[in-house]
This record gives sequence, structure tokens and C-alpha cells, in this order.
Amino acid sequence: MPILAPSILAADPGRYADCAHEALDAGPEWLHLDVMDGHFVPNLTFGPDVVAALEPVAREYDARLDVHLMIENPEDYVDAFAEAGADILTVHVEACPHLHRVAQQIWNAGCEVGVALNPATPPGHLESILPLADLILVMSVNPGFGGQSFIRQSTDKVKHLRRQLNALASNAHLEVDGGVSPDNAMSLIRAGADVLVSGSSIFGGDQSVSENVEAFRNALTLTV
Ligand code: DX5
Ligand code: ZN
Repeated sequence: MPILAPSILAADPGRYADCAHEALDAGPEWLHLDVMDGHFVPNLTFGPDVVAALEPVAREYDARLDVHLMIENPEDYVDAFAEAGADILTVHVEACPHLHRVAQQIWNAGCEVGVALNPATPPGHLESILPLADLILVMSVNPGFGGQSFIRQSTDKVKHLRRQLNALASNAHLEVDGGVSPDNAMSLIRAGADVLVSGSSIFGGDQSVSENVEAFRNALTLTV
């Protein structure tokens, strides 16, 4: 079964812990936390304190904290996010001229290494880090905000990266983030993704969080 990673960015900021409970109660085993610095992306969210505040919730469910750093100079914050309880730390290839050094820093801090690429970044930019990464994150919107429309060309990028990971016999996760909904979930899994991030389709709309998770589950099983 593919992994669904609810993105807390779309939850009520005054109720992050309650919303994390609601999401994990519904079954997902990962929680996606979007860190934005107002420089790499034109939005600000939160830092390690919020990760630390959600860590006990994640542990209660044996869930993984999937922390997506949309920040410049991520090397300055790796240790703080690791100490806060991040299980996976994902940095952007566009923000890391010394990506290999940052990856080593993340491993040394005890986390898994994720590498993200923006919609305009060709997958070839990942070639030398691909054999080393634990997770590749394909951004399917321009990062910075939830609730944007899925960029269709992202599916081809997922297919391309899946072929490359298979050729390397890599077990790395291939995650898609941005505009993911029950409508496109199955096509992304067929393209080779195994982790789907979703914010507004989980925490938004008129239905409850558990009904929204159920909609993903149905989309991913009915069409198999
Ligand atoms: C966007 C973030 C995403 C965002 C996805 O910059 O990285 O994780 O929360 O939200 P939706 O699912 O609403 O596109
Ligand atoms: Zn994200």
C-alpha cells in the first residue's frame, strides 16, 4: 500500500497537535511538516519547536516525521530539526551547492536523507546523489503554498526517476508533493511514486479528515 503523508501546513495552525491526531487516527503512518523561511520560498511557516511539539503525537502512533525544509542554508538547521525529532530531513537541491556535505550532516544527525527538486529543475540534477538518497521528493507545484493545482508534467518526472532508481536497485522512497488528490493519486502511484503528500485534500473541504483519508484509500484500491 502506498504511503500517505498528510501535510500539517493545511491544518488549523492553532490546533496542529489535534489535527495531527485526527490525521494519524485515520491510518497514515507519516506526517509531513513544511518548513519555509521567506527566502527560498515566499512564505513563512515554523521551525524546530513545532516539530518538537508534534513529536510525541507521532511517537504515540509510531508515525514518521517527514520534515521538508524549504529554506536557504539548511545546513545551519539540520541538527536542530534532528534534535526536535525529525525522522526524514528533506532539503532542496536548488538550495544546496554542497548537497553531498549536507546529506552527510543529515545522516550523522541520525535522520534519513531526502532530496527535493522544484518543478523547473531537471531530474538529471540528482544523478550523483540518487544512489545515496533515502527519499526523492518531486515537487508538483512551485513550493511555498498549499492548495495549488498539480503540474501535470510532474508525472513524467516521477516515471523518469522511478526508472533511474530501479536501474540503481535503490530502495529510496519516491514522494510527490503538491496538488495531490484522490483524482490523481493512482496515476502517480502507477508512475512509480510510493509516498503521496497531501495538505488541502486531507485537511480542507467539507468532509472530515478521516473521510478525506478514506477517499484516498478508495482511489488507491478501487482502480488497482
Ligand atoms: C507546498 C508544500 C506542500 C503542501 C501541499 O510548498 O511543500 O507540502 O503542503 O499542499 P497541497 O496538498 O494543498 O497542495
Ligand atoms: Zn512539502
